[in-house]
Amino acid sequence: MMFPNLFSPLKIGTVEVKNRISFQPHLTNLAVGNLPSERQMYYWGERAKGGAGLIITEELTVHPTDMSYEKLIDVYHSEVIPGFKKITDYVHQYDSKIFAQLNHNGQQGDGSISRLPVWAPSPVPDVLFREVPKAMEPEDIEEVTRYFAKSAIHVREGGFDGIEIQFGHSSLARQFLSPLTNHRQDEYGGSLENRMRAPLKFISAVRKAVGNDFTLGIRMCADEMIPGGLDLAQVQEICARFEASGLIDFMDLSIATFYNLYLVEGSMHTPLGYTIPLAAGVRERIKLPVFCTGRINDPVMAEKVLASGQADMIGMCRALICDPFLPKKALEGRMDDIRYCIACNQGCIGRIGMNKALGCVQNPAVGREKEWGEGTLTKAGVKKRVTIVGGGPAGMWAAKMANRRGHQVTLIDRAENLGGQVITAMKGTGRDEFGVIIRNEKSQIDKSGVTVKLGMEATTEQLLADKADVVIVATGSNPKKHPVGGADGPAIFNVVQVLNNEAELGEKVCLIDYDGHQRATATAEFLANQGKKVDMITSSLFICAELGPTQDLYSSRQRLLQKGVTFTPDIAVMEVGGEAGAKTVKGFNVYSNVWNEWGPYDSIVLAMGQQVDDALYMSLKGKVPELYRIGDCVSPRKVDMAIWEGHKIGREI
Ligand SMILES: Cc1cc2nc3c(=O)[nH]c(=O)nc-3n(C[C@H](O)[C@H](O)[C@H](O)COP(=O)(O)O)c2cc1C
Ligand code: SF4
Repeated sequence: MMFPNLFSPLKIGTVEVKNRISFQPHLTNLAVGNLPSERQMYYWGERAKGGAGLIITEELTVHPTDMSYEKLIDVYHSEVIPGFKKITDYVHQYDSKIFAQLNHNGQQGDGSISRLPVWAPSPVPDVLFREVPKAMEPEDIEEVTRYFAKSAIHVREGGFDGIEIQFGHSSLARQFLSPLTNHRQDEYGGSLENRMRAPLKFISAVRKAVGNDFTLGIRMCADEMIPGGLDLAQVQEICARFEASGLIDFMDLSIATFYNLYLVEGSMHTPLGYTIPLAAGVRERIKLPVFCTGRINDPVMAEKVLASGQADMIGMCRALICDPFLPKKALEGRMDDIRYCIACNQGCIGRIGMNKALGCVQNPAVGREKEWGEGTLTKAGVKKRVTIVGGGPAGMWAAKMANRRGHQVTLIDRAENLGGQVITAMKGTGRDEFGVIIRNEKSQIDKSGVTVKLGMEATTEQLLADKADVVIVATGSNPKKHPVGGADGPAIFNVVQVLNNEAELGEKVCLIDYDGHQRATATAEFLANQGKKVDMITSSLFICAELGPTQDLYSSRQRLLQKGVTFTPDIAVMEVGGEAGAKTVKGFNVYSNVWNEWGPYDSIVLAMGQQVDDALYMSLKGKVPELYRIGDCVSPRKVDMAIWEGHKIGREI
């Protein structure tokens, strides 16, 4: 067996988990009426079917003062029990275990949802939510403790195998433990013993409620990674004391807080396995099973962590959002079939942070497992000859899905490689992992019966002469030709030309950013890395305006500023002019309406939007029995929609 440690069982409290893979807790926004839903049953069930030994639910809120998202499950109401039973029964049929995560988010909550003040140890506002919380009175602490206990009973009655209490990155318990957020002078603040008092009350109450024959653990923040906060040494001591209490059976770990949210779900700019040293540090100190989570997205790394004794259980969150069947594929040695998560954060946390239902750019079935999950694809009634033009993500997905349904598929692209715009995007600084999207799909196309024709320009005449039953146009988009006055002058380039090394740039460059996303920022960094002096001008309030949801805002801005890039926000750029070496940018401040001119620059780079490449589609319209267009050639968007539409059309034709 390739992964003997990963697929060995582990006893956690009273349960035996069949392997070392835990599908880690994460919000789904799939609850209905604050109760567990059928969609969640299929969602978690799919990961059980895919072989995860353990599943930990999203955080379930234990008290009305904690409502950080509209669609949290209110576990303190007994009405949750029937829905829980359906979920746990469904998961158990695949021999997986399922724990519930109980949480109160404390100051990391939103009183405008609950219409109640948020509660916290001290009136310290969270950096993200910014609400000044009500400092909890002793009776409030007693009340939350009672609610933890009440909630635990509902979990047990709902058929779960265990409970995890959230003491991690977003939790009231951590706020009590940390000197950063606990400024109390009473018996709940000050010394470590005092700061542990409320969290220990929560654990004791839950233990009492569920009894000794039920598995109970905590998810501890291994390091707050912020001056004045908890560091690994303090956390080791706290973990040792929790272990010594004899109340818990396992120690799951997370990292950071909302001060440094970009470390909680590290994006592709964060190293793979970035929390492993922290897990190893905690494991050195305690004997309880320790979970390690954070960009461990492949079984090889997981096996190494286990084999070297750095942790006992591997937490995979996004890896299994992206590919629910990763465990099964690893067990069967089908490494090429794994769809690796790229830590883009666009579909998962990027949507959750905006209060939308969970998704994944690479897995359109997330949250739609009943309709689109494993085993739902049916053979087409009539086998058709399908020609797809455009080998980017949309075209590749359409080809893969149509082929699986029994159609005879030909995929054509004028480029020498499959991948479309991803091939350019992955050249941006720190974006190479974006290319894994293509590697994932290419391995599937290579194994399929799809005929791939590269380096071939598909013309209208050829396509009409070929008389395919279905033509799908996925020809993508290109940078806008004339996004601003003077754009056709000398020494002006777009980001695609820059990333493909097709631009001869001088030393002083102005990048006009109407994108706010990686297209602009990863290009600016690419140039700064070449030693160029880069000024960025944007119409937005700030540079990286679209990168908040993906957790890249902070670290991208940090890296750009550290590399000497300057930011000028609020500017509507109206004209670019001048000769090479003396280029100027003219525009006005969108608030004051005051005009200004910037320069001189050697070169100007435009990230000012895309335009569809729909000429082929328009020329075929009305002349082909079944004609579709998908992805950017319909309207330029992000890769998630290209994949979504490729997947959908492949299922429908
Ligand atoms: C969409 C999303 C929601 C999350 N919600 C929770 C949560 O409710 N409770 C929790 O403890 N961690 C939550 N997390 C953090 C994950 O459990 C995990 O620690 C993090 O994603 C890093 O692991 P990964 O690299 O395997 O994804 C969430 C993560 C994501 C992506
Ligand atoms: S959206 Fe991106 S980061 Fe999130 S699970 Fe999918 S591939 Fe991974």
